Amino acid sequence: MKVKITPRKVPFTGEFEVPPDKSITHRAYILASIAEGPSLIENPLRAKDCNSTMECLTRCGVEFHIDGNRVSVRGNLREPDDILDAGNSGTTARLLCGLLSSYPFFSVITGDESLRKRPMARVIKPLRMMQAEIIGRNEDRFLPVAIKGREELVGIEYKLDVASAQVKSAILLAGLRASGKTVVIEPAKSRDHTENMLKALGAKIEIEENRISVERSKIRGFHLRVPGDPSSASFLIAIALLIPGSHITIKNVLLNPTRIGFLEKLREMGCNINWEVTEYRLNEPVGVIEASYSEEIKAVKVNKEEIPSMIDEIPILSLIATRAHGITEIRGAEELRVKESDRLKSIREELSRIGAKIEELPDGLLIEGPAEIEGGNTHSHRDHRIAMTLAVGGLISRRGVEIEEAEWVDISFPGFFQVIS
Ligand code: S3P
Repeated sequence: MKVKITPRKVPFTGEFEVPPDKSITHRAYILASIAEGPSLIENPLRAKDCNSTMECLTRCGVEFHIDGNRVSVRGNLREPDDILDAGNSGTTARLLCGLLSSYPFFSVITGDESLRKRPMARVIKPLRMMQAEIIGRNEDRFLPVAIKGREELVGIEYKLDVASAQVKSAILLAGLRASGKTVVIEPAKSRDHTENMLKALGAKIEIEENRISVERSKIRGFHLRVPGDPSSASFLIAIALLIPGSHITIKNVLLNPTRIGFLEKLREMGCNINWEVTEYRLNEPVGVIEASYSEEIKAVKVNKEEIPSMIDEIPILSLIATRAHGITEIRGAEELRVKESDRLKSIREELSRIGAKIEELPDGLLIEGPAEIEGGNTHSHRDHRIAMTLAVGGLISRRGVEIEEAEWVDISFPGFFQVIS
């Protein structure tokens, strides 16, 4: 589907809620599948990525009952009778590798064309050290992955090479059924929902900054209302910051410190942005974000340690940087090359087509601003966050932006084009 976004001449104002958090929804489905007793998940993300997790778990015998905005779950994992398809979702593939390694049956996980190019050795290696039988295509590099799980894995102490919440979570899920302690040490703190939720549900888990240890434990069934996704909110925030006269409030949004590096960076850039935590759900802070038009935006530096807390927001931050005064330098972001697309390349290619002055580095980007976004024809690279970034680019452009294969927004934000129009 080709979508044309025309320049927005009127302010973007109002009170919004964004789609439910993708990371929390995946984890809620997975944890409910292994919990003792039933769980009720209110307001889960009903979009493609999380549906992939639900479908894979259904194949493994988990019962999901959907009733409007609520999903009740009853777990009891058993051997699936067919291949599990994780679709476009890295979180589904990697977390399920960890989970299924700890159950004594055979399973095979595959994914779409993009996911079959993304690295899987990062989860296979530690899981094999825990004594799971797990192999992947092309010398363990890629999906499909075949697993013969084990009733009792062996706990390990493992230092991650990359700060990846998906890899950390895969090991922690496996550790829930392993003998001894399973310890994960991260080079920088990545999103910590798995450990927060496990703790809230009664697992034996200790969290000390970048070191998490878990022991064989059971978790209880739960009731959770999923808050809005700050990564989806980032696109609406960008519109408010960049269109004169705008002012928006986003309610019921997740404000976990490991997810709000983008908001903090915007503040450093001099943007009009505020947020406030109003409640906690299963240990996760939830609250309100306010953003308004920001006339003077300053260029900024983003370094390697900061990347995990804004990993999914780099595309939209790059667009905002085209409006900032000076050169924005994003470094230590090589992980972006193995996301839904090679995001350093797709950001550079597509933003330069519409008028940005942007240079690609092996591990990041240099963006010179302020530059006029002229507009033009672009491609989503079949990547939801690139498609949404380009749509915001269209709103602030002089003559509009056309986006090929724009339907990929449905991966995380169904209805996106209606919300911004
Ligand atoms: C996610 C972790 C991040 C992020 C992805 C969701 C998660 O990936 O990019 O969109 O839910 O754990 P990595 O942990 O591989 O960096």
